[in-house]
Amino acid sequence: MILNEVTKAIFGRQTVREYKPEQISGEQLQTLINAALLAPSGRNSQPCHVRFLQNADMLRGMQIDFKNLVGWDTPVHTRSDKNPFYHNAPTFALIFAEGQSHMDGGIMAENICIAAQGIGLGTCLVGSAGALFNAPEGVKWKLKMNIPGDYVYLIGICIGYPDEKPEQKPRIEDRIQVIR
Ligand SMILES: Cc1cc2nc3c(=O)[nH]c(=O)nc-3n(C[C@H](O)[C@H](O)[C@H](O)COP(=O)(O)O)c2cc1C
Repeated sequence: MILNEVTKAIFGRQTVREYKPEQISGEQLQTLINAALLAPSGRNSQPCHVRFLQNADMLRGMQIDFKNLVGWDTPVHTRSDKNPFYHNAPTFALIFAEGQSHMDGGIMAENICIAAQGIGLGTCLVGSAGALFNAPEGVKWKLKMNIPGDYVYLIGICIGYPDEKPEQKPRIEDRIQVIR
């Protein structure tokens, strides 16, 4: 295997669900914004709108609305029973699009995750927050973030300094085959 800074970031990334409270630096934030901006998209249509949310009051308010919606005891929605909404990360990036651009959103999200890994940050992708943002109860939050109410939440990314070092999760190796 070829190991360089890029492959090390890809191979070293694991989902992090425990974060230190310190906020990421402005330089790190700018790096992640660039990683999002430079993500490829179909026909360069750039359908994704991203909000890097660092407002603790808004995050807590969203979490309460999320829990009120899905229930306060909902292990099915997450592997973490503490704060499944944004895992108490100091920064939560939310990706929205006008339509169902999940492919573009996923590619952008992974760009952010790998760039974050490369600059010493941990991430957790969060699909479950769609239960709030894609319900009528989420419209007010979208509007507060300058996102039109009918835009679709594609994925979120918790971002911060890791406060845990998870083991790499097993992979089903024969999912990938080479045919010659
Ligand atoms: C599309 C997608 C949605 C996910 N949604 C959540 C989520 O809502 N909450 C969560 O804690 N983890 C979520 N994850 C993280 C996965 O659980 C994690 O990537 C998977 O268990 C593999 O572990 P790894 O990232 O450490 O390799 C999501 C991952 C993906 C790709």
